[in-house]
Amino acid sequence: MKVFLIAGARPNFMKIAPIYRESKDRNVDCKIVHTGQHYDYEMSQTFFEDLELPQPDYFLDAGSGSHAVQTARIMTAFEEVCEKDRPDLVMVVGDVNSTLACSIVAKKMWIDVAHVEAGLRSYDVKMPEEINRMVTDSISDYFFVTEQSGVDNLLKEGKPEDKIHFVGHVMIDNLFYQVKQLEQGADVQPAVRDLKEELGRYGFMTLHRPSNVDSKEGLSTIFKALEEISRDLPLIFPVHPRTKNMIEKYGLNLSKNVIALDPLGFGDALYLWKDAQVVLTDSGGLQEETTALGVPCVTIRENTERPITVEMGTNILAGCSKEGILEAYQSQIAGKKRGKCPPLWDGKASERIWQIIINYWEKK
Ligand code: UD1
Repeated sequence: MKVFLIAGARPNFMKIAPIYRESKDRNVDCKIVHTGQHYDYEMSQTFFEDLELPQPDYFLDAGSGSHAVQTARIMTAFEEVCEKDRPDLVMVVGDVNSTLACSIVAKKMWIDVAHVEAGLRSYDVKMPEEINRMVTDSISDYFFVTEQSGVDNLLKEGKPEDKIHFVGHVMIDNLFYQVKQLEQGADVQPAVRDLKEELGRYGFMTLHRPSNVDSKEGLSTIFKALEEISRDLPLIFPVHPRTKNMIEKYGLNLSKNVIALDPLGFGDALYLWKDAQVVLTDSGGLQEETTALGVPCVTIRENTERPITVEMGTNILAGCSKEGILEAYQSQIAGKKRGKCPPLWDGKASERIWQIIINYWEKK
């Protein structure tokens, strides 16, 4: 059985790593297709190294562009690959433009599509990811779901129950694997080690959602909240390229206790955030990873497609106002929110996914 595993943007790499690793013990020819949606060393190659991924079998070199341009480039290049080397199944993860582009191409060529992290919904169609999630799920054949809300959403949308599989979370498989690697002495950049030691007590921060960073007003509001928080707790802030572009465009400054860094590799980032007093973020993945490790998290968004992190985990949805962010921060620092690791986030999701896929394949 030949499977194409699709990855393009940073949050995909930690999801395909455990799936790829787990494919090795099975009778599956699993090929990695990197669309090139992210291409900087710190946004891509460093993850292949940290996550022990081999070089991709196909690199589509799509690069940046408007949504239409980027999606079209990925589609055109991926169609060519599928024509030359037709797979039996295309496996897409998450909700980025690469997920959408490759699932559409595959389905139009009558190739089955499996969506890992299916069914999540923010019901906010101003988020490009929400559109990517809805469209991908509307044409997928197999749905691998991380939390109960995903199952409920898919059933509400009329998807067949026997194609929906609540398997846990491949990203958490990777997280537990990487925590162990760190415990066993995996490399961390000396500058990152020194920073952690020097600060002792700190917060960790990431920010890249267009709704937060693309407007001057929104970004300045968040920076004002950060300024106040950083008087109490220094903040380490690896800056996403989109955010860096916007900070330059709007001529904004960060206060001196907000320590801006270039984007970090997986291991370096984990080494810092796992021991942070609090994580402030608008990322989808970090909401979940902090929940899995019990680290307090403040999510700078109005909604989340990952409600289990709020219902059961350590996450507080703060909104994007200064007051909302400060209130959530105070509550986390006071230790008011405790959390538990959600069901099936146990490091075995990839194993379950392959068992199910191989089962389908053998019955075909
Ligand atoms: C994309 C995903 C988002 C994900 C995020 C993680 C979509 C619609 N969005 O958003 O879901 O959370 O990745 O990072 O798929 N850039 C670089 N170097 C790179 C990549 C991007 O400098 O390697 C810059 C470019 O100026 C580009 C901008 O960042 O225009 C935004 O990149 P893009 O991939 O379009 O969207 P992200 O904001 O990264």
